[in-house]
Amino acid sequence: MIHGGAGSFRKFSPEEKNKFLSAIDRILGDGRDCLAGGASAIEAVALCVGALEDDVLFNAGRGSVLNENKQVEMDAAIMNGATLEAGAVAGVQGIKNPVSLALMVSQKSEHVMFVGEGAMRLAERYGVAQMPDEYFLSEALLAQLERAIEAGKMTLDHDGVDQGDDKLGTVGAVAWDCQGDLAAATSTGGMVNKRQGRVGDSPLIGAGCYADNESCGVSTTGYGEDFIRTVLAKTIADFIEMKGLDASTAAQYGIDYLTRKVKGRGGFIMIDRTGACASQFTTPCLLRGWVEKGGQPMSCF
Ligand code: GLY
Repeated sequence: MIHGGAGSFRKFSPEEKNKFLSAIDRILGDGRDCLAGGASAIEAVALCVGALEDDVLFNAGRGSVLNENKQVEMDAAIMNGATLEAGAVAGVQGIKNPVSLALMVSQKSEHVMFVGEGAMRLAERYGVAQMPDEYFLSEALLAQLERAIEAGKMTLDHDGVDQGDDKLGTVGAVAWDCQGDLAAATSTGGMVNKRQGRVGDSPLIGAGCYADNESCGVSTTGYGEDFIRTVLAKTIADFIEMKGLDASTAAQYGIDYLTRKVKGRGGFIMIDRTGACASQFTTPCLLRGWVEKGGQPMSCF
């Protein structure tokens, strides 16, 4: 399963919607082929999230929204459900694929999370690709920031103030491979007009991303603060592990919990330990898709 963000896309034209759905289908097809070729779940989620980061349609990597200082500050996390190895980076700039850096953190460092300058030094050490400002900045992103500043808001890039922008939210992927291993990854530019240094849920293991073969893999999208306060990804995993729920029941419990506790805004995708997929959201839409071995990608808002 992959997602391209939760939000409201009511003003999108059919052509714009098709652009997003086609991107989701294409990336799902690549993920399916990679798994069919024997790749592991962790490789598949890194591949899919990397492709979402490379596509300017999405708020992650190249298409990341801007903070209050017209800067891109990106967050990402990845987790292996077979080993509970996890890696995360927060507040990174100039990194082409933050999910690749998060993967390096999980596989090569003895730590789980790096932020800011230290994370960027690690990127140099591990040879993770870096890009100049021009790769990330665009007139559309600057205009979007101006609108958010004028409205006096920190917004998801698909909030009301941004209607008309063909931009969506945080991206993520969850995979279940031939060995029955789960993995999850999440990546984002965060919120439009966010304060410099603000970190959302996406790089926080247990809030924006979680995977454990004994329960499920989860990737979230939405107002990060709501997901941090409810530790939502791990809470959903706990519903499965401790209550023995299936994916769709756990997803319902998860969204009810998010709503009851903090009136949370956003959604998530998940795959449980049996390979069953589910998703839930409190926003009008969640751009998402799924594919099974040998099947065709299915995507929807
Ligand atoms: N969910 C992304 C963020 O709040 O930064």
